[in-house]
Amino acid sequence: MATIADLSGDEREQRAAELKRKMQEAAQKARAARGDASPSSGDATVTATVEAPPAEADDTSQAEGDARSGNGAAPTETPVAATNGHAASVVSPAQVAPAAPPTPADEADDPEAAARAEMNRREFLMYSWGAALGLLTLQAGVASFLFMYPRFRAGEFGGKFFVAPTDFGTPTSSPVGETAGKFWMVTTAAGEPKAIYMVCTHLGCLYKWVEANNRFECPCHGSKFDREGHFIEGPAPRSLDHFEVTEEDGMIAVNTGRKINGEPAGESPARHIVGTRAPDAV
Ligand code: FES
Repeated sequence: MATIADLSGDEREQRAAELKRKMQEAAQKARAARGDASPSSGDATVTATVEAPPAEADDTSQAEGDARSGNGAAPTETPVAATNGHAASVVSPAQVAPAAPPTPADEADDPEAAARAEMNRREFLMYSWGAALGLLTLQAGVASFLFMYPRFRAGEFGGKFFVAPTDFGTPTSSPVGETAGKFWMVTTAAGEPKAIYMVCTHLGCLYKWVEANNRFECPCHGSKFDREGHFIEGPAPRSLDHFEVTEEDGMIAVNTGRKINGEPAGESPARHIVGTRAPDAV
């Protein structure tokens, strides 16, 4: 193929004009593809590639070289870049950019979306605070319960005492005192075990078992109770209190943490038999 140097002056001008025309056409096509008719309006960031035959590219370079060297070729306008000879491709920004998540700016543009997001944040904070407060209250409640709940071991007052059924005789035997548990152990006329609290129901004195009279007598104000703790006479308002008694593994378990009040003095069966005055006549 003949080079530029082999061409005559007219042929060179002709060749340069043809190249200029082709490049202008390519530029117009590129503008039309991106919807921009005005060369100055534009989106300078969009890059279009326009097919340019290698030979012509060579010629263009040659022509530009000629023009720069003052050989008569006019400078050409290059609004687009001729690259690797592939077909022209124009990609819009909408096709290139992926869909972005809503931003604070979007929320600012959409008051409803902003209000929705704000509500979600408030709800999250409210639920978080509620859960934390509930957990704290639960922990405080459990700690208080464990601190205040009485815990007594067996064998100490407040806990359980285990007594063998043979240790406290028959319905006619004398009561057996359990000092540590603060109770008298007796067998009732019905054959049931009974643990009688050692403290007088009047003002809390420790009464005694008086074998000679076959009854309990309080040295403080003279209240008297029969062998099973029923009120006989005196200022005491009720019969003697007693503890819950159960049977566990063949033993009698006295729970000194569960006290049962004696019946009112006026309802005592012993008072009707032996009593000499009304219980309220102090
Ligand atoms: Fe026992 Fe008063 S304390 S009669």
